[in-house]
Amino acid sequence: MDNSIIQGFSKYNKQQRIEALIQKYSFDAGLGQFLRSCQTSDESIQKIIDDLSENPVSSFPFPFSLAPNFVVNGKNLFFPLVSEESSVVAALANAAGFWAKRGGFHAEVLGTEKKGQLHFKWNGNPEYLQSLFPEIKLKLLAESAFLTAKMEERGGGITSVELKALPHILPNYFQLDAGFETCDAMGANFINSCLEQFGKSLQDYFLTSEKVSKGQRECEIIMAILSNYTPDSRVRAWVECPVAELLDGKSEAECLLFAQKFEQAIRISQVDVSRAVTHNKGIFNGIDALAVATGNDFRAIEACGHAYATRNGQYAGLTDVQIQGGMFRFSLEIAMAVGVVGGVTAVHPMAKLAMKILDNPSAKELMMYLAVAGLASNFGAVKALVSVGIQQGHMKMHLSNILNQLNIPEEKRTKIQNYFQDKTVSFSEVEEYWKSCGLRDSGCE
Ligand code: MEV
Repeated sequence: MDNSIIQGFSKYNKQQRIEALIQKYSFDAGLGQFLRSCQTSDESIQKIIDDLSENPVSSFPFPFSLAPNFVVNGKNLFFPLVSEESSVVAALANAAGFWAKRGGFHAEVLGTEKKGQLHFKWNGNPEYLQSLFPEIKLKLLAESAFLTAKMEERGGGITSVELKALPHILPNYFQLDAGFETCDAMGANFINSCLEQFGKSLQDYFLTSEKVSKGQRECEIIMAILSNYTPDSRVRAWVECPVAELLDGKSEAECLLFAQKFEQAIRISQVDVSRAVTHNKGIFNGIDALAVATGNDFRAIEACGHAYATRNGQYAGLTDVQIQGGMFRFSLEIAMAVGVVGGVTAVHPMAKLAMKILDNPSAKELMMYLAVAGLASNFGAVKALVSVGIQQGHMKMHLSNILNQLNIPEEKRTKIQNYFQDKTVSFSEVEEYWKSCGLRDSGCE
């Protein structure tokens, strides 16, 4: 391997970056062709995709899938989903079809306030600063008005600014803790710009105000940044049906048994951290797939959701179930911040298509769809776990990945798929069967 240090890699054009890659690892020159083949043939689309990041040498395609029959508050939609994990889309589609026959999903937004913080140090009395704060706050708001005017026209803006003295964390440490309404935008740029402006105004206040003594004119800004934890931007989704209708073609007693096992699984996720993390991972299988498809920041959504899962002092499963008066009600409440204008959503051609498939939702509607995707995914996972187990569905879907890994020709797959229909699928079992069944050396059967 060539270990030389590369200067100015970001200034290379794509071909130069590919050549540098081939040279560093002594890769085959044919790699260039492979990298090009993973891109779209439409140059204008490829340019949009390349411009999303730095130093691209190709694209990394994932399946863009559809799950039909998502009935949400009475509206019947296809959910566009991007996931690399076999069985995620199948689980969502199954859950959607299942609940479509039982009234569909219901959802409501419980708040949309976002948050941000200016972290700073000031060598003075916290109570005195608190007494100056009404005046400081007016200055902060007035001097950020040029940033907030447009957002205010759309019904948003800065909703609160609080001063917090936190000397127990760091000597002389304070925060400005601000709330924002960002309407249909996720609002990261808006919030960060306002916070940075707060920093400038605050420093100016300390430098110029007569109420600040000479020795205390210095204010050290540590950082200004939005918080991805938005507990007041929250959404709830739920499904419900009579317990007796929970399983197609099964007796009332079987349905009740299923409901009870399902409830036990949910209770375990609410108290056992090891289970809760996996449980919530299953929720995010659905949320992330829809977030990625719509060009939303799934890392922010995940970080917020996991933090919200600790709101009662211990990390817990995010879904809840109630069985009362013969009814089964299953719900998810989660905090998240999403946007439908700006960012990747407005630029990536597939994200734009995903938004069209969702009938161009508002940010609030998208929050509801994301929560529904999470609930559906969790329902599918827990239903499988407490009945047939997860591996049956999972490994069946995984079989096609294994067939790809083994480069098994399309025309020989049916026999292998049939053979594994009632057997445990594993890479070694499939490889063994492929080697031993005579298919490998024979023609098409
Ligand atoms: C796998 O991606 C997700 C599950 O593990 C979730 C769960 O256990 O609830 C099946």
